[in-house]
Amino acid sequence: MTAHRARIAASILDADLGNLGNAVRRVVEAGADRVHLDVMDAHFVPNLTFGPKTIKALRPRTTIPFDAHLMVDEPGRYIDEYLDAGCDSITFHVEIEEPIVPTLEAIRAAGRAAGLAVKPGTPLGALEPYADFLDIVLIMTVEPGFGGQTFMADVLAAKAAGARRILDHKLYGGEVHVDGGINRETAEFAGSHGVDVFVVGSALFMKGRDMGREVRLIRALADEGFQYGPNDGRPPIPSDRLTRFTSLPKHLAHRLMDEIEATGIPVMMLRGEGQVNPDGVRDYDLLIPASVEDHVIDAHGPSRERLLAEADAWRQSYATKA
Ligand code: DX5
Ligand code: ZN
Repeated sequence: MTAHRARIAASILDADLGNLGNAVRRVVEAGADRVHLDVMDAHFVPNLTFGPKTIKALRPRTTIPFDAHLMVDEPGRYIDEYLDAGCDSITFHVEIEEPIVPTLEAIRAAGRAAGLAVKPGTPLGALEPYADFLDIVLIMTVEPGFGGQTFMADVLAAKAAGARRILDHKLYGGEVHVDGGINRETAEFAGSHGVDVFVVGSALFMKGRDMGREVRLIRALADEGFQYGPNDGRPPIPSDRLTRFTSLPKHLAHRLMDEIEATGIPVMMLRGEGQVNPDGVRDYDLLIPASVEDHVIDAHGPSRERLLAEADAWRQSYATKA
């Protein structure tokens, strides 16, 4: 359980490319939340890095999520290899000529998160036609192709709110990513624009810098920016914090869980420690992400009240039958 809202995706682009396994180990030990894998084909961008075979070889090194960023002309042609390599999320660029929807659908059909990235010069509107197929919007704040470039603050300021709107269809789990020039000087600004996932590359691999301290600093500054930016001074709710929505007998808990999950919000159902019912089984707790609690109360509060009343009636009828 993390105590933070901001998630750090560590890019290994500026690591020792002759020892990527060690780079993965280092970023994991430094506390990164994800490994960001910059795949470049020397066509879409003027640089060549690594492909799905290298990613597959790195996969067993850690269990933290692999976030692939495909800067290639033909992501669709090789999408099965990236899925097979164990990528948890795959983001490619909207500027490609290859058809986009089939590749987004293939990523989602494999149960992974699908994303589209926009170069600094590409208007965000280019993503609109694909909004319903997206879990991730990646805003490039440098020209893709190299690490260590200067952060383009104006690009993020112009696109962050629009990126969030594009993901409005997702009640939970939609992520705005920023990539390029994120470090301790720029993290707070990026956090103040509501970014969820911060790709950090060269700032982590700087000689003489403690990588763990850099990850903690950048994450804390990003949360600070969010807290005193869009969150009106309130501390941000960690993305994976859960809160109890209600407790009900098992058969009724299942019904409410199904209703909420049908809207795309995950629910955890656990046998509670509360009331023991006439059938000898305790109520089940329904846990929901704290970050969407207000929405769930608005949307499913009436169902909760109705099922709580039904639970009472069920207990009474059970007791009278006994
Ligand atoms: C650039 C890559 C980035 C890059 C980030 O095209 O997509 O992920 O590695 O590195 P920094 O943080 O150094 O800008
Ligand atoms: Zn990247």
